[in-house]
Amino acid sequence: MMNTNDVAGELQGRHIVLGLSGGAACFKAAEFCRLLAKAGATVQVVMTEAACQFITPVAMQSLSGRAVYVSQWDARPGNNMAHINLSREADAVVVAPASADFIAQLAQGRAGELLPLLCLARPVERVPLLLAPAMNREMWAHPATQRNLRQAMLDGAQVLGVAYGDQACGETGDGRMLEAGELLEELVAFLAPKPLLGERVVVTAGPTFEAIDPVRGITNLSSGKMGFAIARAAREAGAEVTLVAGPVHLPTPRGVRRIDVDSARNMHAVAVDKALAASIFIATAAVADWRPAQAAEHKIKKDGSGEVPQLAFVENPDILAEVAHSPRAQSGELYCVGFAAESENLEANAQAKRARKGVPLLVANIGPATFGRDDNALLLVDDEGVTELPRASKRALARQLVAEIARRVSGAET
Ligand code: CTP
Repeated sequence: MMNTNDVAGELQGRHIVLGLSGGAACFKAAEFCRLLAKAGATVQVVMTEAACQFITPVAMQSLSGRAVYVSQWDARPGNNMAHINLSREADAVVVAPASADFIAQLAQGRAGELLPLLCLARPVERVPLLLAPAMNREMWAHPATQRNLRQAMLDGAQVLGVAYGDQACGETGDGRMLEAGELLEELVAFLAPKPLLGERVVVTAGPTFEAIDPVRGITNLSSGKMGFAIARAAREAGAEVTLVAGPVHLPTPRGVRRIDVDSARNMHAVAVDKALAASIFIATAAVADWRPAQAAEHKIKKDGSGEVPQLAFVENPDILAEVAHSPRAQSGELYCVGFAAESENLEANAQAKRARKGVPLLVANIGPATFGRDDNALLLVDDEGVTELPRASKRALARQLVAEIARRVSGAET
């Protein structure tokens, strides 16, 4: 899940209709509403009568800053057609929580209340409808609910999935509504442009850990933030993303398949295998160049003599160079992007590294100054020359870089 303190601007200029149907998860909708506003969206809340049993329209009005709609007979709109006005001005309608009954109403095209009515009245091609189901596990698993969900999807609704865990009723299982931060991440991804649709992207990220003995090892200061941000941006852009991650404590971006590895050899085995089915390979990992020649089977002990252990090193495989020289990369089926962490002479070093690694695009940054930080500045080096992406958050840079990669990949295909 994304860091919910860091959502500013994610939905700037967007207008979201947030629908609440009845369920204990309404309290999460309150938090979601606050996050939507924090992300820059304007939020119009619409509640069913059942939702008003769980949380008051007053609470939702104070969080959204707008009067809440409940009834289709609400006389406030001049034309008395709240269902038309509300559904036409929205960039998306998100119903969270979407109860079993609400989904059943959608599946049948019923319009007995304002919320299902406006869903039915929305222009289907222009205003997407996203559902965040929330219900007891038995209700979720019931064939009627699953049938209704399938029907709602066939009719154009996007279902965001549910989480497994403790439920308000005391049972444990599938059917919990996603957390507010997860809902926001899904909505942001849904609304993002999709220039990488159909692409399969593999990203390596983070440091590697080279064991000396079972309790010690050599690693580096890479935080993995840039690689994780790129994986997220690529998924938002429509790609199927596999993230091969060294030891870092970062949350997995939603919708991204993450494979944790430790040593360079381990990362090498996984990345080379996954690259076989990929169309884009992005190597952001700070892979250790060397590893101890032999990892001791047991912890190396002090023997009291004052003698220090002598470490000998051997070179690790170069993952990027190997993937970039594979037949699929050479034939243009696989587009490879390398990163270069340099401490000086950024452009010259980047040019040299691009040639040495044999990649079409190399992205250079100043290593020590960026590790662990939330911002960065990038220099893209390729056949076109040098493109500068000035200092910005890693999140913003990742999006720009993904757009640059998408442009080059689609250019290569035409
Ligand atoms: N890389 C890799 N496997 C390695 C070493 C590096 O896949 N064993 C990849 C990195 O993920 C990055 C690029 O190669 O995309 C360059 O990494 P960097 O550490 O900057 O370069 P090195 O090849 O290690 O060269 P040097 O340390 O001499 O600058």
